[in-house]
Amino acid sequence: MDEKRFSGKVAVVTGGGSGIGEGIARRLQAEGAQVALFDRDSAALDRVSSETGALGLNIDMSDERAVEAGIEAVVDGFGRLDIAVNSAGVVGMTSTNIVDYPTEEFQRVLAINLFGSFYLTKYAIPPMLQQGYGRVLLIASIAGKEGNPGMIGYSTSKAGVVGMVKAVGKEYAERGVTVNGLAPAVIRTPMNEKTAPEQLKYMTERIPMKRLGTVEEAAALACWIVSEEAAFTTGFVFDLSGGRATY
Ligand SMILES: NC(=O)c1ccc[n+]([C@@H]2O[C@H](COP(=O)([O-])OP(=O)(O)OC[C@H]3O[C@@H](n4cnc5c(N)ncnc54)[C@H](O)[C@@H]3O)[C@@H](O)[C@H]2O)c1
Repeated sequence: MDEKRFSGKVAVVTGGGSGIGEGIARRLQAEGAQVALFDRDSAALDRVSSETGALGLNIDMSDERAVEAGIEAVVDGFGRLDIAVNSAGVVGMTSTNIVDYPTEEFQRVLAINLFGSFYLTKYAIPPMLQQGYGRVLLIASIAGKEGNPGMIGYSTSKAGVVGMVKAVGKEYAERGVTVNGLAPAVIRTPMNEKTAPEQLKYMTERIPMKRLGTVEEAAALACWIVSEEAAFTTGFVFDLSGGRATY
């Protein structure tokens, strides 16, 4: 097998300017895919684009029209869309119980994490259906399966992503397009640099391997999920939790 695993494939990776999204984008690109990064951080986009040759598009995932236009630009420019990974996301407030959690913050976190997942999936699927092949991967979180206290916006948004994966996966199960999720426990990325130490401790203590996961470990599993080989799984949320998740 001389051909690279993603030769001829076109991928969109949101949040591709940092952390897990960046790791996935780099690996897809290294394995032959043409990659477009959607991120709202211009400096991050410039850095990853210049290092990898990926196309960087400044897109706010909470802006439906921007996401729609971004997908259109990718399909126009590259002629197809095979892979869509949603890794853009924010933690929002931490160590804050619901009674003190501002409603505006709840709306902001849902607008990015949950509505962003909805927009990407909604606009990525039509070109995939046209070609009879596609892979959608939404990065959820163990917080969406178990619920992390003090992080109501984040936990709720990720639980929503889990439900979305399960529902949409079934919608296109017979048409060559798979929709799956990935639910990591804590992965060492810039996202946790802002997380309160006591919140991080709470999460790490619950991981039987007693360590954080790595971006490379996340990218390895994510890239398998969006590969041609992963053909008989859809509507499923994969675990990446060092043994924490039991279902
Ligand atoms: N790091 C972890 O421990 C962990 C655990 C579970 C799930 N996750 C999820 O994995 C995904 C990636 O997390 P990460 O750790 O790589 O974070 P990160 O902060 O390193 O990267 C997130 C990227 O998303 C971008 N982004 C944020 N809001 C955006 C918006 N509105 N529009 C476009 N881009 C936006 C940021 O600019 C950044 O480049 C997130 O969905 C996160 O919730 C992370």
